[in-house]
Amino acid sequence: MQLIYERSVPGRKTSQVPACDVAEESLEKLSGGILRDKAAELPEVSELQAVRHFMELSGENLGVDCNFYPLGSCTMKYNPKVNEAVAALPGFAGVHPYVEIYRAQGTLRMLYNLEQYLCEITGMKAFTLAPMAGAHGEFVGMSMIRAYHDHRGEKNQRTTVLVPDSSHGTNPASAAIAGFDIKAVKSNERGEVDLDDLRAHCDEHTAGIMLTNPNTLGLFETKILEIQKIVHGVGGLLYYDGANLNAIMGKCRPGDMGFDVVHLNLHKTFSTPHGGGGPGSGPVGVSERLLPFLPTPRVVKAPVETPEIEFVWSRDFPLSIGRVATFYGNVGVCLKAYAYIRSLGAAGLKEASEDAVLAANYLRVKLREKFPTAYDRICMHEFVATPGQALDKGVHTLDIAKRLIDNGIHPPTIYFPLIVPEAIMIEPTETEPLAVLDHFADVMLKIADEAQSDPELLHHAPVTTSIGRLDETAAARKPKLAYGCQG
Ligand SMILES: Cc1ncc(COP(=O)(O)O)c(C=O)c1O
Repeated sequence: MQLIYERSVPGRKTSQVPACDVAEESLEKLSGGILRDKAAELPEVSELQAVRHFMELSGENLGVDCNFYPLGSCTMKYNPKVNEAVAALPGFAGVHPYVEIYRAQGTLRMLYNLEQYLCEITGMKAFTLAPMAGAHGEFVGMSMIRAYHDHRGEKNQRTTVLVPDSSHGTNPASAAIAGFDIKAVKSNERGEVDLDDLRAHCDEHTAGIMLTNPNTLGLFETKILEIQKIVHGVGGLLYYDGANLNAIMGKCRPGDMGFDVVHLNLHKTFSTPHGGGGPGSGPVGVSERLLPFLPTPRVVKAPVETPEIEFVWSRDFPLSIGRVATFYGNVGVCLKAYAYIRSLGAAGLKEASEDAVLAANYLRVKLREKFPTAYDRICMHEFVATPGQALDKGVHTLDIAKRLIDNGIHPPTIYFPLIVPEAIMIEPTETEPLAVLDHFADVMLKIADEAQSDPELLHHAPVTTSIGRLDETAAARKPKLAYGCQG
Protein backbone atom coordinates (compact mmCIF):
# COMPACT_ATOMS: atom_id res chain seq x y z
CA MET A 1 0.00 0.00 0.00
CA GLN A 2 1.34 3.41 -0.83
CA LEU A 3 0.47 6.05 1.72
CA ILE A 4 -0.42 9.52 0.63
CA TYR A 5 -0.53 12.44 3.00
CA GLU A 6 -1.77 15.91 2.36
CA ARG A 7 0.40 18.94 2.42
CA SER A 8 -0.95 22.47 2.55
CA VAL A 9 1.12 24.93 0.52
CA PRO A 10 0.36 28.62 1.23
CA GLY A 11 -1.43 30.24 -1.67
CA ARG A 12 -1.95 26.97 -3.50
CA LYS A 13 -4.51 24.26 -3.34
CA THR A 14 -3.87 21.45 -0.91
CA SER A 15 -1.71 18.92 -2.71
CA GLN A 16 -1.35 15.22 -2.26
CA VAL A 17 2.22 14.11 -1.75
CA PRO A 18 3.50 10.56 -1.71
CA ALA A 19 5.21 9.82 1.57
CA CYS A 20 8.82 8.68 1.45
CA ASP A 21 9.59 5.15 2.53
CA VAL A 22 10.70 6.07 6.02
CA ALA A 23 7.73 8.27 6.65
CA GLU A 24 5.51 5.57 5.23
CA GLU A 25 6.86 3.04 7.65
CA SER A 26 6.38 5.39 10.62
CA LEU A 27 2.91 6.31 9.52
CA GLU A 28 1.92 2.69 9.33
CA LYS A 29 2.95 2.24 12.94
CA LEU A 30 0.65 5.00 14.15
CA SER A 31 -2.54 3.60 15.57
CA GLY A 32 -5.91 4.64 14.20
CA GLY A 33 -7.39 8.01 14.95
CA ILE A 34 -4.07 9.84 15.26
CA LEU A 35 -3.52 10.76 11.63
CA ARG A 36 -5.22 13.80 10.13
CA ASP A 37 -7.87 13.00 7.57
CA LYS A 38 -7.64 16.49 6.11
CA ALA A 39 -4.99 19.18 5.97
CA ALA A 40 -4.60 21.41 9.03
CA GLU A 41 -6.37 24.73 8.70
CA LEU A 42 -3.39 26.98 9.18
CA PRO A 43 -3.87 30.70 8.68
CA GLU A 44 -2.08 32.28 5.77
CA VAL A 45 -0.46 35.44 7.09
CA SER A 46 2.39 37.72 6.22
CA GLU A 47 5.65 37.62 8.14
CA LEU A 48 4.80 40.94 9.81
CA GLN A 49 1.45 39.66 10.98
CA ALA A 50 3.11 36.60 12.48
CA VAL A 51 5.75 38.75 14.21
CA ARG A 52 3.09 41.09 15.58
CA HIS A 53 1.05 38.17 16.83
CA PHE A 54 3.94 36.75 18.82
CA MET A 55 5.05 40.17 20.07
CA GLU A 56 1.53 40.79 21.30
CA LEU A 57 1.45 37.43 23.06
CA SER A 58 4.85 37.95 24.66
CA GLY A 59 3.68 41.35 25.93
CA GLU A 60 0.94 39.60 27.88
CA ASN A 61 3.46 37.43 29.65
CA LEU A 62 5.04 38.34 32.97
CA GLY A 63 8.77 37.80 32.52
CA VAL A 64 11.86 38.72 34.44
CA ASP A 65 13.00 41.21 31.81
CA CYS A 66 9.90 43.30 32.55
CA ASN A 67 8.55 42.24 35.94
CA PHE A 68 9.59 41.26 39.46
CA TYR A 69 9.58 37.47 39.62
CA PRO A 70 9.72 36.20 43.21
CA LEU A 71 9.19 32.55 42.28
CA GLY A 72 10.45 30.45 45.17
CA SER A 73 12.57 27.36 44.46
CA CYS A 74 13.70 26.00 41.16
CA THR A 75 14.40 29.05 39.07
CA MET A 76 17.20 31.55 39.19
CA LYS A 77 15.79 34.70 37.75
CA TYR A 78 18.99 36.43 36.75
CA ASN A 79 20.06 35.46 33.26
CA PRO A 80 22.95 37.79 32.37
CA LYS A 81 23.00 38.73 28.71
CA VAL A 82 26.77 38.29 28.61
CA ASN A 83 26.23 34.56 29.22
CA GLU A 84 24.19 34.36 26.03
CA ALA A 85 26.94 36.09 24.09
CA VAL A 86 29.55 33.66 25.43
CA ALA A 87 27.42 30.61 24.65
CA ALA A 88 26.86 31.91 21.13
CA LEU A 89 30.58 32.22 20.33
CA PRO A 90 31.00 30.20 17.13
CA GLY A 91 34.01 28.32 18.50
CA PHE A 92 31.70 26.78 21.11
CA ALA A 93 28.29 26.85 19.48
CA GLY A 94 29.59 25.32 16.26
CA VAL A 95 31.34 22.30 17.76
CA HIS A 96 29.79 19.03 16.68
CA PRO A 97 29.79 16.31 19.35
CA TYR A 98 31.63 13.98 16.98
CA VAL A 99 34.30 16.47 15.95
CA GLU A 100 37.92 15.24 16.15
CA ILE A 101 39.13 15.74 19.68
CA TYR A 102 41.91 18.15 18.77
CA ARG A 103 39.34 20.55 17.34
CA ALA A 104 37.32 20.68 20.59
CA GLN A 105 40.11 21.38 23.04
CA GLY A 106 38.67 24.74 24.11
CA THR A 107 35.29 23.19 24.93
CA LEU A 108 36.92 20.31 26.81
CA ARG A 109 39.11 22.69 28.77
CA MET A 110 36.05 24.76 29.72
CA LEU A 111 34.22 21.61 30.90
CA TYR A 112 37.27 20.42 32.82
CA ASN A 113 37.72 23.79 34.51
CA LEU A 114 34.02 24.05 35.33
CA GLU A 115 34.25 20.68 37.08
CA GLN A 116 37.20 21.99 39.09
CA TYR A 117 35.31 25.14 40.06
CA LEU A 118 32.29 23.14 41.18
CA CYS A 119 34.57 20.88 43.24
CA GLU A 120 36.02 23.96 44.90
CA ILE A 121 32.61 25.51 45.55
CA THR A 122 31.08 22.33 47.00
CA GLY A 123 34.06 20.53 48.54
CA MET A 124 33.45 17.39 46.46
CA LYS A 125 36.19 15.30 44.81
CA ALA A 126 34.92 15.19 41.24
CA PHE A 127 31.92 16.15 39.11
CA THR A 128 30.01 14.93 36.12
CA LEU A 129 28.37 17.62 34.03
CA ALA A 130 26.32 15.14 32.02
CA PRO A 131 22.89 15.28 33.76
CA MET A 132 20.51 17.64 32.00
CA ALA A 133 18.33 18.76 34.91
CA GLY A 134 18.23 18.68 38.68
CA ALA A 135 15.99 15.62 38.77
CA HIS A 136 18.23 13.89 36.22
CA GLY A 137 21.18 14.62 38.54
CA GLU A 138 19.24 13.12 41.43
CA PHE A 139 18.63 9.94 39.46
CA VAL A 140 22.31 9.75 38.53
CA GLY A 141 23.37 10.31 42.15
CA MET A 142 20.99 7.68 43.47
CA SER A 143 22.14 5.24 40.79
CA MET A 144 25.71 5.71 42.04
CA ILE A 145 24.59 5.05 45.62
CA ARG A 146 22.94 1.87 44.36
CA ALA A 147 26.08 0.84 42.49
CA TYR A 148 28.14 1.47 45.63
CA HIS A 149 25.99 -0.83 47.78
CA ASP A 150 25.80 -3.44 45.03
CA HIS A 151 29.56 -3.42 44.72
CA ARG A 152 29.89 -4.07 48.45
CA GLY A 153 27.58 -7.08 48.16
CA GLU A 154 24.66 -5.35 49.86
CA LYS A 155 22.40 -5.24 46.84
CA ASN A 156 19.40 -6.85 48.48
CA GLN A 157 19.98 -5.37 51.90
CA ARG A 158 20.19 -1.61 51.26
CA THR A 159 16.72 -1.02 49.94
CA THR A 160 15.46 2.09 51.70
CA VAL A 161 16.07 5.77 51.12
CA LEU A 162 15.02 8.30 53.75
CA VAL A 163 13.51 11.52 52.51
CA PRO A 164 12.55 14.33 54.91
CA ASP A 165 9.04 15.67 54.37
CA SER A 166 10.59 19.10 53.66
CA SER A 167 12.59 17.79 50.70
CA HIS A 168 11.95 18.82 47.15
CA GLY A 169 9.30 16.65 45.50
CA THR A 170 11.70 15.31 42.91
CA ASN A 171 13.82 13.66 45.66
CA PRO A 172 11.50 10.77 46.56
CA ALA A 173 10.55 10.39 42.89
CA SER A 174 14.19 10.07 41.79
CA ALA A 175 15.04 7.61 44.56
CA ALA A 176 12.00 5.50 43.65
CA ILE A 177 12.96 5.49 39.97
CA ALA A 178 16.45 4.35 41.01
CA GLY A 179 14.75 1.35 42.60
CA PHE A 180 14.59 2.27 46.29
CA ASP A 181 11.73 2.17 48.77
CA ILE A 182 11.04 5.56 50.30
CA LYS A 183 10.53 6.38 53.98
CA ALA A 184 9.51 9.91 54.93
CA VAL A 185 11.18 11.57 57.90
CA LYS A 186 9.17 14.17 59.82
CA SER A 187 10.12 17.81 60.35
CA ASN A 188 10.24 19.16 63.88
CA GLU A 189 8.76 22.35 65.31
CA ARG A 190 11.70 24.36 63.89
CA GLY A 191 11.09 23.10 60.35
CA GLU A 192 14.19 20.90 60.41
CA VAL A 193 14.67 17.14 60.24
CA ASP A 194 13.38 15.54 63.44
CA LEU A 195 16.43 13.64 64.68
CA ASP A 196 14.42 11.19 66.80
CA ASP A 197 12.30 10.30 63.81
CA LEU A 198 15.45 9.98 61.69
CA ARG A 199 17.04 7.61 64.21
CA ALA A 200 13.85 5.56 64.35
CA HIS A 201 13.97 5.07 60.57
CA CYS A 202 17.69 4.23 60.30
CA ASP A 203 18.70 0.60 60.19
CA GLU A 204 20.72 -1.95 58.22
CA HIS A 205 18.35 -1.49 55.26
CA THR A 206 19.12 2.20 54.92
CA ALA A 207 20.81 2.90 51.60
CA GLY A 208 20.95 6.63 52.26
CA ILE A 209 19.17 9.88 52.87
CA MET A 210 18.29 12.59 50.35
CA LEU A 211 18.42 15.94 52.00
CA THR A 212 17.52 19.28 50.47
CA ASN A 213 19.52 21.96 52.23
CA PRO A 214 18.49 24.72 52.71
CA ASN A 215 15.22 22.81 52.72
CA THR A 216 12.08 23.79 50.87
CA LEU A 217 11.00 25.92 53.82
CA GLY A 218 14.07 28.07 53.07
CA LEU A 219 15.65 26.91 56.34
CA PHE A 220 19.15 25.65 56.94
CA GLU A 221 19.41 22.26 58.65
CA THR A 222 21.41 23.30 61.71
CA LYS A 223 21.86 19.68 62.83
CA ILE A 224 23.32 18.59 59.54
CA LEU A 225 26.53 17.18 61.04
CA GLU A 226 24.51 15.04 63.42
CA ILE A 227 22.34 13.84 60.55
CA GLN A 228 25.51 12.88 58.71
CA LYS A 229 26.80 10.87 61.68
CA ILE A 230 23.48 9.07 62.20
CA VAL A 231 23.15 7.98 58.57
CA HIS A 232 26.80 7.05 58.04
CA GLY A 233 26.62 5.26 61.38
CA VAL A 234 24.23 2.67 59.93
CA GLY A 235 26.17 2.34 56.67
CA GLY A 236 23.96 4.64 54.59
CA LEU A 237 25.20 7.37 52.25
CA LEU A 238 24.21 11.01 52.17
CA TYR A 239 22.75 12.74 49.15
CA TYR A 240 22.72 16.55 49.18
CA ASP A 241 20.13 18.23 46.99
CA GLY A 242 22.18 21.34 46.29
CA ALA A 243 19.68 23.09 44.04
CA ASN A 244 19.44 25.75 46.75
CA LEU A 245 23.19 26.32 46.82
CA ASN A 246 22.57 29.94 45.89
CA ALA A 247 21.99 30.48 49.63
CA ILE A 248 25.33 29.13 50.85
CA MET A 249 28.02 29.64 48.22
CA GLY A 250 31.30 30.67 49.80
CA LYS A 251 29.84 30.05 53.25
CA CYS A 252 29.82 26.28 53.67
CA ARG A 253 30.24 23.21 51.50
CA PRO A 254 28.35 19.89 51.33
CA GLY A 255 31.69 18.07 51.04
CA ASP A 256 32.83 19.52 54.36
CA MET A 257 29.54 18.43 55.90
CA GLY A 258 30.43 14.83 55.03
CA PHE A 259 28.05 14.33 52.11
CA ASP A 260 28.77 11.66 49.52
CA VAL A 261 26.94 13.06 46.56
CA VAL A 262 25.52 16.45 45.64
CA HIS A 263 23.67 17.78 42.64
CA LEU A 264 23.52 21.41 41.63
CA ASN A 265 21.05 23.18 39.42
CA LEU A 266 23.11 25.36 37.10
CA HIS A 267 19.81 26.82 35.95
CA LYS A 268 19.19 28.00 39.47
CA THR A 269 22.39 28.82 41.29
CA PHE A 270 24.54 29.72 38.33
CA SER A 271 22.23 32.04 36.42
CA THR A 272 21.44 29.91 33.38
CA PRO A 273 17.92 30.18 32.00
CA HIS A 274 15.38 27.45 32.67
CA GLY A 275 12.36 28.31 30.62
CA GLY A 276 9.49 25.86 30.47
CA GLY A 277 11.43 23.10 32.16
CA GLY A 278 14.57 23.16 30.07
CA PRO A 279 17.24 23.10 28.89
CA GLY A 280 18.78 22.72 32.30
CA SER A 281 21.84 21.17 33.80
CA GLY A 282 22.20 19.18 37.01
CA PRO A 283 25.91 18.39 37.56
CA VAL A 284 26.63 15.78 40.21
CA GLY A 285 29.60 15.84 42.53
CA VAL A 286 30.89 12.92 44.56
CA SER A 287 33.08 12.16 47.54
CA GLU A 288 36.07 9.82 47.37
CA ARG A 289 34.00 6.71 47.96
CA LEU A 290 31.68 7.30 44.99
CA LEU A 291 34.43 8.38 42.62
CA PRO A 292 34.69 5.02 40.79
CA PHE A 293 30.97 5.04 39.97
CA LEU A 294 30.80 8.39 38.14
CA PRO A 295 29.18 8.19 34.70
CA THR A 296 31.33 7.99 31.60
CA PRO A 297 32.65 9.45 29.44
CA ARG A 298 34.67 11.83 31.61
CA VAL A 299 36.87 14.72 30.52
CA VAL A 300 40.41 13.97 31.68
CA LYS A 301 43.88 15.31 31.01
CA ALA A 302 45.47 13.42 28.13
CA PRO A 303 47.85 10.72 29.45
CA VAL A 304 50.38 12.01 26.92
CA GLU A 305 49.96 15.69 26.35
CA THR A 306 50.79 17.11 22.93
CA PRO A 307 50.62 20.72 21.73
CA GLU A 308 47.34 19.84 20.06
CA ILE A 309 45.71 17.60 22.65
CA GLU A 310 45.54 18.49 26.33
CA PHE A 311 42.18 16.87 27.19
CA VAL A 312 40.47 13.67 26.08
CA TRP A 313 37.31 11.69 26.80
CA SER A 314 37.91 8.66 28.98
CA ARG A 315 35.71 5.61 29.45
CA ASP A 316 38.32 3.76 31.42
CA PHE A 317 36.37 3.49 34.67
CA PRO A 318 35.28 -0.13 35.11
CA LEU A 319 32.84 0.52 37.98
CA SER A 320 31.16 3.47 36.29
CA ILE A 321 27.38 3.47 36.07
CA GLY A 322 27.95 4.24 32.36
CA ARG A 323 26.49 6.80 30.06
CA VAL A 324 23.62 8.95 31.36
CA ALA A 325 23.23 11.40 28.48
CA THR A 326 23.52 11.22 24.72
CA PHE A 327 26.77 13.16 24.67
CA TYR A 328 27.93 15.19 27.65
CA GLY A 329 24.95 17.15 28.93
CA ASN A 330 23.95 20.62 27.86
CA VAL A 331 27.33 22.11 27.06
CA GLY A 332 25.84 25.51 26.20
CA VAL A 333 24.29 25.69 29.66
CA CYS A 334 27.60 24.69 31.25
CA LEU A 335 29.26 27.48 29.30
CA LYS A 336 26.83 30.05 30.70
CA ALA A 337 27.49 28.86 34.24
CA TYR A 338 31.22 28.99 33.54
CA ALA A 339 30.86 32.59 32.35
CA TYR A 340 28.88 33.45 35.50
CA ILE A 341 31.48 31.92 37.82
CA ARG A 342 34.33 33.61 35.98
CA SER A 343 32.65 36.99 35.98
CA LEU A 344 31.76 36.93 39.69
CA GLY A 345 34.83 35.18 41.07
CA ALA A 346 34.95 33.65 44.55
CA ALA A 347 34.14 36.88 46.35
CA GLY A 348 31.28 37.65 43.99
CA LEU A 349 29.65 34.24 44.46
CA LYS A 350 29.78 34.65 48.21
CA GLU A 351 28.28 38.10 47.93
CA ALA A 352 25.51 36.75 45.68
CA SER A 353 24.52 34.28 48.42
CA GLU A 354 24.70 36.92 51.12
CA ASP A 355 22.53 39.30 49.11
CA ALA A 356 20.00 36.57 48.31
CA VAL A 357 19.64 35.76 52.01
CA LEU A 358 19.51 39.43 52.97
CA ALA A 359 16.79 40.19 50.42
CA ALA A 360 14.67 37.24 51.57
CA ASN A 361 14.94 38.21 55.21
CA TYR A 362 14.20 41.84 54.43
CA LEU A 363 10.91 40.85 52.82
CA ARG A 364 10.13 38.20 55.43
CA VAL A 365 10.31 40.79 58.19
CA LYS A 366 8.44 43.46 56.24
CA LEU A 367 5.59 41.07 55.51
CA ARG A 368 5.43 38.90 58.59
CA GLU A 369 2.63 40.74 60.39
CA LYS A 370 0.18 40.25 57.53
CA PHE A 371 1.77 37.14 55.99
CA PRO A 372 3.16 35.09 58.87
CA THR A 373 5.75 32.46 58.10
CA ALA A 374 5.20 28.88 59.13
CA TYR A 375 8.43 28.97 61.17
CA ASP A 376 9.27 32.38 62.56
CA ARG A 377 13.05 32.38 62.23
CA ILE A 378 15.81 33.67 60.02
CA CYS A 379 15.50 32.18 56.57
CA MET A 380 17.97 31.56 53.80
CA HIS A 381 17.37 32.60 50.17
CA GLU A 382 13.59 32.12 50.33
CA PHE A 383 10.80 31.93 52.87
CA VAL A 384 7.38 30.38 53.11
CA ALA A 385 4.64 32.82 54.10
CA THR A 386 0.91 32.18 54.63
CA PRO A 387 -2.18 34.38 53.98
CA GLY A 388 -2.69 35.13 57.69
CA GLN A 389 -6.00 36.84 58.52
CA ALA A 390 -7.01 36.96 54.87
CA LEU A 391 -8.11 33.35 55.34
CA ASP A 392 -10.81 34.53 57.78
CA LYS A 393 -12.37 36.41 54.87
CA GLY A 394 -12.20 33.36 52.61
CA VAL A 395 -9.21 34.73 50.71
CA HIS A 396 -6.71 32.02 49.85
CA THR A 397 -3.16 31.83 48.55
CA LEU A 398 -4.39 31.42 44.97
CA ASP A 399 -6.38 34.67 45.21
CA ILE A 400 -3.33 36.56 46.49
CA ALA A 401 -1.13 35.14 43.75
CA LYS A 402 -3.65 36.12 41.07
CA ARG A 403 -4.00 39.62 42.47
CA LEU A 404 -0.22 40.07 42.21
CA ILE A 405 -0.62 39.66 38.45
CA ASP A 406 -2.95 42.68 38.43
CA ASN A 407 -0.08 44.58 39.99
CA GLY A 408 2.45 43.52 37.35
CA ILE A 409 4.23 41.01 39.59
CA HIS A 410 4.76 37.36 38.76
CA PRO A 411 3.19 35.18 41.48
CA PRO A 412 5.48 33.36 43.89
CA THR A 413 5.48 29.56 44.02
CA ILE A 414 2.26 28.57 45.79
CA TYR A 415 0.95 25.55 47.71
CA PHE A 416 4.51 24.24 47.99
CA PRO A 417 6.07 22.89 50.17
CA LEU A 418 3.17 20.62 50.95
CA ILE A 419 3.83 20.60 54.69
CA VAL A 420 2.69 24.23 54.97
CA PRO A 421 -1.01 24.71 54.23
CA GLU A 422 -1.62 27.70 51.94
CA ALA A 423 2.11 28.14 51.34
CA ILE A 424 3.39 31.25 49.54
CA MET A 425 7.03 30.61 48.74
CA ILE A 426 8.87 33.84 48.05
CA GLU A 427 12.38 34.08 46.60
CA PRO A 428 13.40 37.63 45.73
CA THR A 429 16.99 36.68 44.67
CA GLU A 430 20.15 38.72 45.02
CA THR A 431 19.71 40.84 41.94
CA GLU A 432 16.70 43.02 42.81
CA PRO A 433 17.25 46.59 43.99
CA LEU A 434 15.81 47.75 47.29
CA ALA A 435 13.15 49.85 45.55
CA VAL A 436 11.75 46.73 43.87
CA LEU A 437 11.65 44.81 47.15
CA ASP A 438 9.86 47.74 48.79
CA HIS A 439 7.37 47.95 45.95
CA PHE A 440 6.62 44.24 46.26
CA ALA A 441 6.12 44.57 50.01
CA ASP A 442 3.77 47.55 49.47
CA VAL A 443 1.72 45.59 46.95
CA MET A 444 1.49 42.56 49.25
CA LEU A 445 0.36 44.74 52.16
CA LYS A 446 -2.19 46.45 49.93
CA ILE A 447 -3.52 43.02 48.95
CA ALA A 448 -3.77 42.10 52.63
CA ASP A 449 -5.94 45.22 53.14
CA GLU A 450 -8.05 44.38 50.09
CA ALA A 451 -8.64 40.93 51.55
CA GLN A 452 -10.32 42.63 54.51
CA SER A 453 -12.19 45.37 52.63
CA ASP A 454 -13.12 43.69 49.33
CA PRO A 455 -12.49 39.93 49.36
CA GLU A 456 -14.63 39.47 46.23
CA LEU A 457 -12.11 41.50 44.24
CA LEU A 458 -9.43 38.98 45.11
CA HIS A 459 -11.67 36.03 44.30
CA HIS A 460 -12.01 37.37 40.76
CA ALA A 461 -8.38 38.38 40.21
CA PRO A 462 -6.71 38.83 37.83
CA VAL A 463 -9.04 41.51 36.51
CA THR A 464 -6.60 43.49 34.37
CA THR A 465 -5.48 40.72 32.01
CA SER A 466 -7.10 39.86 28.71
CA ILE A 467 -8.02 36.44 30.10
CA GLY A 468 -9.34 36.26 33.65
CA ARG A 469 -9.12 33.43 36.19
CA LEU A 470 -8.66 30.10 34.46
CA ASP A 471 -9.22 26.54 35.50
CA GLU A 472 -5.47 25.97 35.19
CA THR A 473 -5.62 22.20 35.03
CA ALA A 474 -8.17 22.25 32.24
CA ALA A 475 -6.23 25.00 30.45
CA ALA A 476 -3.07 22.89 30.55
CA ARG A 477 -4.72 19.60 29.66
CA LYS A 478 -7.30 20.78 27.16
CA PRO A 479 -5.96 24.02 25.70
CA LYS A 480 -8.14 25.91 23.25
CA LEU A 481 -5.62 27.17 20.75
CA ALA A 482 -6.80 30.00 18.57
CA TYR A 483 -5.11 32.38 16.23
CA GLY A 484 -5.92 35.88 17.41
CA CYS A 485 -3.90 38.48 15.48
CA GLN A 486 -6.13 40.85 13.54
CA GLY A 487 -3.44 43.35 12.59
C1 LIG B 1 15.48 22.01 45.73
C2 LIG B 1 15.27 21.47 44.33
N1 LIG B 1 15.61 20.21 44.04
C3 LIG B 1 15.45 19.69 42.82
C4 LIG B 1 14.88 20.42 41.79
C5 LIG B 1 14.67 19.76 40.48
O1 LIG B 1 15.36 20.40 39.45
P1 LIG B 1 14.87 20.31 37.93
O2 LIG B 1 13.63 21.13 37.84
O3 LIG B 1 15.98 20.87 37.12
O4 LIG B 1 14.63 18.86 37.61
C6 LIG B 1 14.50 21.75 42.03
C7 LIG B 1 13.86 22.57 40.99
O5 LIG B 1 12.95 22.14 40.34
C8 LIG B 1 14.69 22.30 43.34
O6 LIG B 1 14.35 23.55 43.64
